[in-house]
Amino acid sequence: MQKNIAVVGAGYVGIVSGACFAKLGSNVICVDVDEKKVESINKGKAPIYELDLDEILSSYRDRIHATIDYKSAIEGSEITFVCVGTPSLKDGGIDLSYVKQVVKNIGRILKDIDKWHDVVIKSTVLPGTSQNILLPILEKYSEKKAGKDFGLSMNPEFLREGTAAYDFLNPDRIVIGSFDNKSKEVLKKLYSDFDCPIIETSLSAAEMIKYASNCFLGTKISFINEIGNFCKEIGVDTYEVADGVGLDKRIGRAFLNSGIGWGGSCFPKDINALICWAKQNGYSSKILDDVVKVNDIQPLKLVELLKKHIPNLKGKKIGVLGLAFKPNTDDIRESRAIPIILKLTEEGAQIKVYDPKAMDNFKQQFPNIKIHYCSSADEVLGSDAVLITTIWDEFKNLDYSGKIVIDGRRLEKAKSAKIYEGVCW
Ligand code: UGA
Repeated sequence: MQKNIAVVGAGYVGIVSGACFAKLGSNVICVDVDEKKVESINKGKAPIYELDLDEILSSYRDRIHATIDYKSAIEGSEITFVCVGTPSLKDGGIDLSYVKQVVKNIGRILKDIDKWHDVVIKSTVLPGTSQNILLPILEKYSEKKAGKDFGLSMNPEFLREGTAAYDFLNPDRIVIGSFDNKSKEVLKKLYSDFDCPIIETSLSAAEMIKYASNCFLGTKISFINEIGNFCKEIGVDTYEVADGVGLDKRIGRAFLNSGIGWGGSCFPKDINALICWAKQNGYSSKILDDVVKVNDIQPLKLVELLKKHIPNLKGKKIGVLGLAFKPNTDDIRESRAIPIILKLTEEGAQIKVYDPKAMDNFKQQFPNIKIHYCSSADEVLGSDAVLITTIWDEFKNLDYSGKIVIDGRRLEKAKSAKIYEGVCW
């Protein structure tokens, strides 16, 4: 079903959703305060790197545009998706200021619009936020009533960085949390061409589904890492265990790859936010606290294993393959390579690193750490020992023979090293 859609926030959720809605036939106008992003989108070029995104944007240029002007975008649309970021606060909670400001702006514009308009929250917000915080702001600034004069829904995203466009177009499910029936029906029609279950919920249940999904996936990884730590002690290969366990349909094999843990912009932010929210609401999150603890110790296991072979790291050349939190991205947010490199620095090692995409980001974020940035993965192999921290394709065919390799991500070829240790196998 085609619609005129405004998308506020051209970050990775907004631009991917906007581009995919355009591909599916809707007319999309992206609103962003960043004029550079707006210019880039209007030239048919994505402001971020995501697989397939440039191709979608350039193929459907007639159906997707960008502007800094909220008013014209919202007036010309029937639905507005709110896709701005909700970054972490120091206490683990989330900063709602961008979402609140956007909703305020939308409210002010709705005040002067005579027709029905649906506001859809796609930003990741804690349970209760749409109902208790955003709805009152919309009503205050629009001087209108939700459900009577405008619609309000919550439609979380489940997009992985790097494959976000694919994930948008091939979802496992679509969750529509709604305040009112009319906006629910509008979204159901918008998504009617998708061949997947559509779940209809309350606003707060939709918000919780997003958090529970990410928390469960993070838990699954920490769980297999804990099992992996036991396996390592008794000489069992955790990957054989994961294969055997994962065939149970109730469990599934996905996200049972043990290693040095989860990073990125989503799992750490969302898991800590739910822990913080639980505390603020008088609950204590026993499982999630431990999920985070396991994830915190996991990367340092790599250094412990390294010290089994080189007890004193002072002055030793230690190579690190990979800085990105996962392959195919330049994102280093909460990358497991960070605590490893900090620990190596503390131990006085001379660090050599290589990452195909993330070295600039690392240099920028850690200008004071003394690191030798190599121009190729091969150059890193000329170290006293090598740690594998991100499983980039180009690391899969290197010649590891004669090396000491400590593997945090299960790289089969590295098993040919002179000394090879896997973190959980
Ligand atoms: C994650 C979720 O997978 C998406 O569904 C969600 O929409 C997104 O967060 C979000 O909330 O926006 P993403 O952070 O892009 O996506 O990354 P993942 O591919 O899920 O990987 C996260 C981390 O877990 C990476 O550091 C990865 O190396 C690690 N991981 C993943 C493992 O250690 N083992 C596994 O088996 C799988």
